[in-house]
Amino acid sequence: MKLQSFLSSILLSFTTTILLLLSIPHSVSANHAGFLQCLSFRLNDSNIISKVIHTPNDSSFSSVLSSSIQNPRFSTPGTPKPVLILTPVHPSHVQSAVKCARRFGIHIRTRSGGHDYEGLSYVSHKPFVIIDLKNLRSITLNIDNRSVWVQTGATIGELYYEIGKKNKTLAFPAGVCPTVGVGGHFSGGGYGTLLRKHGLAADHVVDARVVDSRGRVLERREMGEDFFWAIRGGGGSSFCVVLSWKIGLVDVPSTVTVFNVTKFEEQSAVKIVHRWQFVSDRVDDDLFVRVMLQRFRDRVRASFPGLYLGSVKSLLELVNREFPELGLEESDCQEMTWIESVVWFAELGDVSIDVLGKRTRASLAFKAKSDFVQEPIPESSILKMWRRLQEPEAELAQLIFTPFGGRMSEIQDYETPFPHRYGNMYEIQYLNYWRGGEGREKYMRWVERVYNEMSEFVSRSPRGAYINLRDLDLGMYVGGKRSKYEEGKSWGVKYFKNNFERLVRVKTRVDPFDFFCDEQSIPTFSSVDVM
Ligand SMILES: Cc1cc2nc3c(=O)[nH]c(=O)nc-3n(C[C@H](O)[C@H](O)[C@H](O)COP(=O)(O)OP(=O)(O)OC[C@H]3O[C@@H](n4cnc5c(N)ncnc54)[C@H](O)[C@@H]3O)c2cc1C
Ligand SMILES: *[C@@H]1O[C@H](CO)[C@@H](O)[C@H](O)[C@H]1NC(C)=O
Ligand SMILES: *[C@@H]1O[C@H](CO)[C@@H](O)[C@H](O)[C@H]1NC(C)=O
Ligand SMILES: *[C@@H]1O[C@H](CO)[C@@H](O)[C@H](O)[C@H]1NC(C)=O
Ligand SMILES: *[C@@H]1O[C@H](CO)[C@@H](O)[C@H](O)[C@H]1NC(C)=O
Ligand SMILES: *[C@@H]1O[C@H](CO)[C@@H](O)[C@H](O)[C@H]1NC(C)=O
Repeated sequence: MKLQSFLSSILLSFTTTILLLLSIPHSVSANHAGFLQCLSFRLNDSNIISKVIHTPNDSSFSSVLSSSIQNPRFSTPGTPKPVLILTPVHPSHVQSAVKCARRFGIHIRTRSGGHDYEGLSYVSHKPFVIIDLKNLRSITLNIDNRSVWVQTGATIGELYYEIGKKNKTLAFPAGVCPTVGVGGHFSGGGYGTLLRKHGLAADHVVDARVVDSRGRVLERREMGEDFFWAIRGGGGSSFCVVLSWKIGLVDVPSTVTVFNVTKFEEQSAVKIVHRWQFVSDRVDDDLFVRVMLQRFRDRVRASFPGLYLGSVKSLLELVNREFPELGLEESDCQEMTWIESVVWFAELGDVSIDVLGKRTRASLAFKAKSDFVQEPIPESSILKMWRRLQEPEAELAQLIFTPFGGRMSEIQDYETPFPHRYGNMYEIQYLNYWRGGEGREKYMRWVERVYNEMSEFVSRSPRGAYINLRDLDLGMYVGGKRSKYEEGKSWGVKYFKNNFERLVRVKTRVDPFDFFCDEQSIPTFSSVDVM
């Protein structure tokens, strides 16, 4: 029987429980049958039901599931699959899902863009339901007010496109990869090429609409400042389902300049990277220069892609004065609009900005870790990283250094949950990619090795990490003697430092029964471990 007719039949006849129990795959517990019945009843209309509810029986199930899996490490036959996937087409469906899930003890995972580094938005080791927000993706610009309401199922590429289409001198400071979802990204902080000038995406969120653990829709005024604070960097998955954000836009000049300088020769490249540390976070905020270390065929290379908020002429003056070692030349530079620079940075080729709206899936599995650097790393250690990249398992590895300073240093570390502000020169991301499922351990161990080697040169006590580059090696709930609060604190202070306690207070108040939880979610003061 087709799901649609099947479900309409239960709406009519109220022998539903029996029917559902008979017809739902055996992995589904009675709770899930109750949940499905509760939800079907609330959605009422059979057309809506078939649009919103996907059971493993539906032919759409696996394509909906994999549509935004951005790390194939979590797309194997062995990866636990959800009992149901919901794709709400109206905010009230999210409310219904939360209310029914609460009532029937259903564990949910919320997914926006699916970029979670550890797959937590679509993988759980206990029976679970995914709320996938992909259909809630409207973007409403109010160009006169320089503000936007963006639903969380939208990607940052779609957001950039909508802004860029309307006005070439307005922008939004968020990540580099256009397929990242605004749901996870803004709730964890979010940064890209504008971070030195304008800070994090979360720093520009001025209001939000959420569904709380009681199924209510709340805006900033109703949720209160503590709750609103928590979702701008504390990770969305611990507090609510964010339906939409209201953000303020920033100004950019009509002409910006992009460049990319690449150095192959080991000794001089290492020297320039070393020197970069003394310039990149102190130089004028209009300049953002990243370092990428990676292999090209057999050779390691260092590239320095950058964005300058101004013309080539003033860029060259600035770089020749402050960072002549880079050897930047006019031929390395290209003037364009900010929205074109987004396409350039995303390495999408010489194409129109329409490409930003395209949803693509990643084909390589990956593992990553992050660090914050507070004092320059010695040249010998940079050389060590360079040499590590020559190892066989580092064929597709990348080390990415993202400079901070500028606006990032002006925002106090308690203003949002993201605490890595003043005193942090740059972030390092250690990334390794591989093809296929075989032998992934050796690639993951490579990342761990480099990370361990760097321990004495990066932030300490606690060693900082960025929640949006989630890393389950930092710890996860295992149950046992320690309370969930004690367990969560051990990685919570790495992501949030002193803000961890305030996040726990907010969590305890807004979700006292720990409905919104995952392997690394913020605990309440009293929650017991059920993972
Ligand atoms: C290829 C790639 C490039 C990236 N580039 C950058 C970058 O340039 N800068 C940067 O800062 N980060 C970057 N990231 C990291 C990215 O910011 C995080 O992975 C972010 O959490 C992704 O959000 P998402 O909605 O796509 O992911 P999801 O996997 O959908 O969600 C991530 C987490 O947020 C929760 N969540 C998602 N939506 C909601 C919601 N609406 N309400 C409540 N909780 C929610 C999920 O449950 C999960 O815990 C990148 C990641 C990848 C894979
Ligand atoms: C799912 O498929 C099984 C076996 O094909 C069938 O017996 C069952 O009725 C189906 N369930 C639903 C919800 O359609
Ligand atoms: C279902 O929808 C119909 C038509 O929209 C309405 O008349 C009916 O009252 C609804 N039933 C429930 C249970 O909400
Ligand atoms: C613009 O913002 C102001 C102040 O926040 C508000 O009062 C006004 O209604 C907004 N205008 C529109 C068209 O939304
Ligand atoms: C774009 O926005 C800026 C700043 O709000 C404004 O001054 C400018 O007139 C706008 N340009 C266009 C083409 O709308
Ligand atoms: C910069 O150049 C390097 C080396 O050629 C390349 O791998 C990288 O993709 C380029 N970066 C950008 C943003 O174009």
